[in-house]
This record gives sequence, C-alpha cells and structure tokens, in this order.
Amino acid sequence: MAKFIAKPAKSLSGNIKVPGDKSISHRSVMLGSLANGITEVTGLLEGEDVISTIKSFRSMGVDIDRNDDKLIINGVGIDGLQKPDIALNVGNSGTSMRLISGILAAQSFDSELIGDESLSERPMGRIIKPLTEMGAIINSQGNKPPLKFFGGQKLQSISYDLPIASAQVKSCLLLAGMYAEGKTCVSEPATTRNHTENMLQGFGYKVNIDSDNICIEGGGELKSSKIQVPGDISSAAFFMVAASIANNADITLSAVNVNPTRTGVINILRLMGANIELSNQREIGGELLADFRIKSSELSGIEIPEELVPLAIDEFPAIFIAASCAKGLTTLTGAKELRVKESDRIQVMADGLITLGIDCEVLDDGITIYGGEYHKPLEVIKSHHDHRISMSFALASLRSRFDIEIEGVDNVKTSFPNFVELANSIGMDLHEI
Ligand code: S3P
Repeated sequence: MAKFIAKPAKSLSGNIKVPGDKSISHRSVMLGSLANGITEVTGLLEGEDVISTIKSFRSMGVDIDRNDDKLIINGVGIDGLQKPDIALNVGNSGTSMRLISGILAAQSFDSELIGDESLSERPMGRIIKPLTEMGAIINSQGNKPPLKFFGGQKLQSISYDLPIASAQVKSCLLLAGMYAEGKTCVSEPATTRNHTENMLQGFGYKVNIDSDNICIEGGGELKSSKIQVPGDISSAAFFMVAASIANNADITLSAVNVNPTRTGVINILRLMGANIELSNQREIGGELLADFRIKSSELSGIEIPEELVPLAIDEFPAIFIAASCAKGLTTLTGAKELRVKESDRIQVMADGLITLGIDCEVLDDGITIYGGEYHKPLEVIKSHHDHRISMSFALASLRSRFDIEIEGVDNVKTSFPNFVELANSIGMDLHEI
C-alpha cells in the first residue's frame, strides 16, 4: 500500500496546468465510440478511471488508438457495439459504471460490469430502478455491483424525477434514452454538471433543455467530433486550497474548465475570503475555460450555502482542509451524498482532521469544522483508498510543523496521475513511498 510523506512547506509559486477533466474525458470516449466516424480527442485525462472506460469500449469492438497527444476513436455507430468476451472491469470508476450501464441496458447482447472493492460497495439502485422502469433487465448484488445486463430488451422512454441531484444518474438515463422509443425526460432537484447534455449536442444529437428538465428523443445518431478536453477544476481545487492556506503563495493555473455547473468551489472559497482571480475566459467546444491566479489569504469559517453543494460535490475533502485552517467555524449540511463516494468522505475526513488535532463534529448530512492549528499527528492518516482524501491531506503540510503521513494513496492515479510532480513543482515537499 503506497504512502505519501508530506513535509512542511510554506511558500508556493509557479504556473501549472492540471490534467484534463475526468467527466469530459469519460464522455468523449463513450460518445466517440458510439458516433459514426473518427473522433479525435486532445487533452484527455490519462487517469486509471478513464483508461477503464477506454478498455470497456475496446472490449466491445471499438478501435481506440493513441497518436501523439491525440486519442483516435474509430466510432462504430450507435448500434455497432459487439458482445464483450469477458466482464467489463471498470476498477474504481463510478462514472464508468453508472454511465456505461445506460448503454449496456439497451444492447442486443448480455454483458456484465464489475469494479474494485470500493466500487463494489457503492449504490447502484439509483440507476437500476429507472432503467428497469424503461424495460431493462439487470441483476445486481442487492443493488450493488456486479451488474448483469440481459440483452435484447426494447427500452421505453420515461419521464423521471431524480430523487437525488446526480449527474451520473441523469447521464445514464440520457444515454439509455438514445435507444428508447419516444422521448425520455429527466428532471433534476438541483443543477448538476451538464457535460453529457453539452457533448451530446456537440455530436449533433438534439437535447431539449428547459431549466431543470432535460429531454432526449430515441432513435438518433451521433456524428463524430473533435474534442479538446479542458483542465479539471476538481484537480485545480487542490491547488486553489493549497495557495489559499500557504503563508506565502502566488500561483497560476492555466486553462481550467469553468463550466458554471462546476464552479461551486470558487464561490465557497471566495466566501471564506480566498484570493482567486480568473482571467482570459474563453470557450472551446461548448465548455468555458479560464486561467486562475491564487494568492495566500486569511480564511474565515462560513455556513456553506446548500445550493452550492452539487456544484462542488467532489471538492469537499479539499474544502474541509481549507476550513480546518480558517478562523472560526465552518458548517456544511445537505451533503449526504458525500457518504457514498469513493469513501464516506464525511467520516474519513473527520477522522483525519481529528488525527491532526482539529475539532469537528460529524452530522448525518455534513460536518462542522472548528479552524485551528495542526498538532503532531500520532498516527498515519487513512485515506481509505480514496484519491481525493489522499490529495487533500497532503495539502495540510502547508500549515503543519510536522511531517504528515497518509496511507493508501495508490488511487491518486485514478484521477490525477501527476499530482505529486505538480505539487513539488510549485514548492510542496511531497513523496510517495
Ligand atoms: C460525475 C458526477 C458526480 C461526481 C463524480 C463524477 C460525473 O457524481 O461526484 O466524480 O462525471 O457525472 P454523482 O452524479 O454521483 O453526484
């Protein structure tokens, strides 16, 4: 089990570019595979999660090659997938499992999706229920993976009110909707990331969006496309927090995606007093990009507005580190979903913060964190193999007088393979052993 040793560091400077957005990378492989013709993708995230998606489509007969910095996908058309010889193993990737399920539910062949230990414990009832209403036949282990799909079902459209704000469930149903008879509509209780809707339209597939109600008509086609993947704001968030809490920091992050359905972390950190400037906003392929400049700041605790929760859902582990360095109390509520991510991110973050001497109180749907000073950790911090927990606790070294050890960091490569390299390039002192 790999470990991080994060040594104290105080100043940060430099200009870095974070890797491609994970959500957009997954979707470009999925839609590129189902399109007619060749799709070229630049800036793809080469993390293990996206590689799991690529391997899954290769197993279903799609030719996907690398050409210098481009991924070349020879799309087979919406009905061109072939029966895989083995179960599709998507490792740690919830996005692969939930989105690909929408496609597999509608195929003429039987198939199976499996994942690692963490993914095998994550809830899949949220996609099984609506897909079953559409006519899919899926076997699971008590609504958890492995998922077995029985091919040859003709899907019917549905109108589905999402019980939780989830872009993965919404996307799963929109993908299934391409194969269903009639118009499938999904309505969201709160705005979630809209990359699937954006990209479907970029591939020439009509999607009707009426505020929180998104509809797609079955029976269409996807036309191949050229995609440039912008930097992942969820990866940028670690450096936004790092520069905000470090004593002497001034860093820039270039070409980060600032799709308004993803920018909750900027709003939350600014409410806490962070000094984050955005410049050079531009649009590429239907997605907004900007360059960020972040300087040290004096953070204060806040009550995090609940409407920002789905817009910052993956960034809370890093935000909790910011809260632990802020003056006063930070409260998060309305964030029960954090308990069913790659780990129970509320409990696991609270345990790690307590190891660092920070007072916090776990709530059913959130946490309160009392900003303070880190003590010498008497134990190794356990990441529970959650990539975002590992990277978040590495940031604590910017305010610690002692080394911080974090165990189970192997999964950092699922989303951010060059995290250590980039962190050290701006002045952190981080080692993986
Ligand atoms: C994702 C949606 C979010 C997010 C995940 C990626 C996506 O999950 O946490 O990392 O690409 O659609 P939920 O839809 O479960 O909130």
